Amino acid sequence: MFNLPDSYNVAILGATGAVGTELLQLLEERDFPLKSLKLLASPRSAGSKINFKGQAIAVEAVSAEAFKGIDIVLASAGGSTSKQWATTIIEAGALMIDNSSAFRMDSRVPLVVPEVNPEAAESHQGIIANPNCTTILMSVALWPLQRVQPIKRIIVATYQSASGAGARAMAEVKQQAQAILNGEKPLTESFPYPLAFNLFPHNTPINEQGYCEEEMKMVNETRKIFNLPDLRISATCIRVPVLRAHSEAINIEFEQPFDVAEAREAIEQAQGVQLVEDWNANYFPMPIDASGENDVLVGRIRQDLSHPSGLELWLCGDQIRKGAALNAVQIAELVVSKQWLKLKSPVAA
Ligand code: A2P
Repeated sequence: MFNLPDSYNVAILGATGAVGTELLQLLEERDFPLKSLKLLASPRSAGSKINFKGQAIAVEAVSAEAFKGIDIVLASAGGSTSKQWATTIIEAGALMIDNSSAFRMDSRVPLVVPEVNPEAAESHQGIIANPNCTTILMSVALWPLQRVQPIKRIIVATYQSASGAGARAMAEVKQQAQAILNGEKPLTESFPYPLAFNLFPHNTPINEQGYCEEEMKMVNETRKIFNLPDLRISATCIRVPVLRAHSEAINIEFEQPFDVAEAREAIEQAQGVQLVEDWNANYFPMPIDASGENDVLVGRIRQDLSHPSGLELWLCGDQIRKGAALNAVQIAELVVSKQWLKLKSPVAA
């Protein structure tokens, strides 16, 4: 425990992971009003020390005891860990902001991107879900367009970095690249196939229609966040050998033709997105430029040659920042600033 003079008792569940590490950085960077900060992980990490604001905090193994007196739990330790501890967290009187997919499609649980549907957070019953990373990036970029001109259909292809599979997967890609350069066989543990110098469709289970889980998350979660249950979306999700920051090529069909200049203006004026286009230099968003950035970079906005009401765009966004940790911290900031933290009538998960 790390005591500070003011405000909220926060715990990070999964503090040693890729997203957990970023959550810590963001709480420090954004000066979140902390009374105390508790770092929780598996028993493997208990006792290890992590620096926060110049002080070393010991990581604790997660336990029921650990949530006593906590106001907000930022959870990023996987779906099964979230499911295992949700009831305990709510019964301890804390709000769980959950980065896993465990509760995202539960109708009692708001699924929130603060730039899109902040009002949804108010009705939480102890859990607010942080959407899937590719979904967050797409939502932030498309919502400003949807507000000007209703979207009819979205076709998206993703180029997803190793960071989406966690810290071990990022290390694995580096090891694989080194092994291949040394003429050795690359080892695969986090991924089913070598990712270095390769790419493959996202390795989540495939449904009877041929869509993988990641693709269906983009479909179902975007519909829930936009509150458009019938929005037509089709996604193809691909893992690429980029360490950090996801990219997406998106084709959007609107109800009416959408002037490109007007679309650019809507992106330029929106929160959380940055227009990055230098047509003469052929310079557009790239994962290396998006890495470590809070904004989603959007560019190559152009008329779809094949459809009068269609636009094409390209985006890159830091999966660990806006795609995960930053969105969670923004939800915490939203809830605290609106005084939506405590339940009006507590309900068990
Ligand atoms: P640990 O480092 O002790 O394994 P990533 O997504 O980068 O792989 O990180 C996953 C995070 O979730 C890590 O902090 C990891 O802790 C934590 N974690 C994994 N399994 C559990 C568990 N059963 N209980 C608590 N924390 C867990």
